[in-house]
Amino acid sequence: MKALVDQLKATAAQTNATDIRAAFASDAERFSRFSTSLDDLLLDYSKCAVNEQVLDGLEALAKAAKVEEKRDAMFRGDIINITEERAVLHTALRNRGNRPVLVDGKDVMPDVNGVLETMGAFADGIRSGALKGATGKKITDVVNIGIGGSDLGPVMATLALAPFHDGPRLHFVSNIDGAHIADTLKLVEPETTLFIIASKTFTTIETMTNAATARAFIADKLGEAAVGHHFAAVSTALDKVAAFGIDQARVFGFWDWVGGRYSIWSAIGLPLMIAIGKENFGHFLDGGHAIDEHFRTAPIRENLPMLLGLLGFYNRNVLGYPSRAILPYDQRLSRFPAYLQQLDMESNGKAVTLDSKPVEFSTGPVVWGEPGTNGQHAFYQLIHQGTDVIPAEFMIAANGHEKTLRHQHELLIANCLAQSEALMKGRTLAEAKAQLTSKGMADAKADKIAPHRVFAGNRPSLTLVYDQLDPFALGRLIALYEHRVFVEGALFNINSFDQWGVELGKELATGLLPVVEGKESAAGHDSSTAGLVAVLLKAAR
Ligand code: F6P
Repeated sequence: MKALVDQLKATAAQTNATDIRAAFASDAERFSRFSTSLDDLLLDYSKCAVNEQVLDGLEALAKAAKVEEKRDAMFRGDIINITEERAVLHTALRNRGNRPVLVDGKDVMPDVNGVLETMGAFADGIRSGALKGATGKKITDVVNIGIGGSDLGPVMATLALAPFHDGPRLHFVSNIDGAHIADTLKLVEPETTLFIIASKTFTTIETMTNAATARAFIADKLGEAAVGHHFAAVSTALDKVAAFGIDQARVFGFWDWVGGRYSIWSAIGLPLMIAIGKENFGHFLDGGHAIDEHFRTAPIRENLPMLLGLLGFYNRNVLGYPSRAILPYDQRLSRFPAYLQQLDMESNGKAVTLDSKPVEFSTGPVVWGEPGTNGQHAFYQLIHQGTDVIPAEFMIAANGHEKTLRHQHELLIANCLAQSEALMKGRTLAEAKAQLTSKGMADAKADKIAPHRVFAGNRPSLTLVYDQLDPFALGRLIALYEHRVFVEGALFNINSFDQWGVELGKELATGLLPVVEGKESAAGHDSSTAGLVAVLLKAAR
């Protein structure tokens, strides 16, 4: 692999692949040669620093890393999460064709469909008012309590699908900071509120603590007997849910082969289903399934997740760019960058290969971003003129939902396209100077000012275009990025499906709690930690 990457570096240098501007100037067909689509979903990667030779090299890399074989192993249900000895089958949750998927020789599809059905019945009941609060009132507000994968997916997707939201209001509480739940409880009435406790493990301290606060909120206001009417739970740990006291009929299970950051398709999606209804949730699953079928069957060079993964690897390991910006020109995707942060950085932030050796590549990049056009007025300056090259990933719908505001959508499109064009073209010193002198600036002054107005250009970006952000389109987008993360992980030869780094933080915080409570001495901790504890304890009121 290393040799192939070195070869790719040489190819990129010899063929001047990073001069994207020159490539466009000499090839009028560049867009059609370096873009591909699945129905209305288009990936334009012509503004990436690639050419045919680079793509040949990337394809060879995918073959050498056996990405297709690894993909097939995932879909087959092999134990590819080797450190936790689990299959990785979030694809089964959206396996709309019901192709049998075997785990330990048993088809999981009947269970998957069974939970989907019970979720549907529950969502219908809440939405219609058939399932009421303890005092007989209709549920108007649903508060999802979860964190990480048990929060980010439902939060992001509910916002993304706001035009389809015709169920009760949704609120999300994740942070252990009491401010989060306190501010949320001010917005809801106990009699008309349902709390969903979402936790794969049902042990996560943030979720369990917030759940206890919510339980006290209901019990204090409506009495202990009311709790059953105002709580539901989503978890793989059904025994622990039972101990919390939530009625079995309101507990929705999933399985250890669904990773937290891949769980929006499971019962973790219940709040989304309550918001948009089971039919729309079904369209969302359909979108994910469409990408699965494409990823499973399309040749590498026409395969969107493969291309995205290969381009990501190329930017990181051949060109050496350390981060990537996610820039949706779609206000309702404003939480999509945060969602992708967990998906990508928790999956591919690893340093050890599947053979338990140090990884020979730079693994996952820093993923960050904000929606356009807001980002333009904040951090784009650095993307255009900073000293680091930051590959950008733009997203734009052909159509917004606001028909009467078409003009605003046209402005949105114009901004999105203008940014990627400017990043690619840049502005040379001669162009900058000519612009200034044409406005009457004296030559000497123009010489001084022009360098500040130079844009290096040749800054890579790709653009995803879709017709409109609806449940199907969102499902496709999420699954596209899930598989992109998979492809990059396969190239790195790492396990993308565990998260021991996060587990460490959880352990350490639990160990430090008695010290922060003043019940144990800070001896044994480093002097910084001990000093900070002392200051905070002294100031505690
Ligand atoms: O942040 C670490 C993590 O384990 C994530 O992978 C997971 O999504 C999150 O915690 C929440 O875990 P749980 O759903 O078990 O409460």
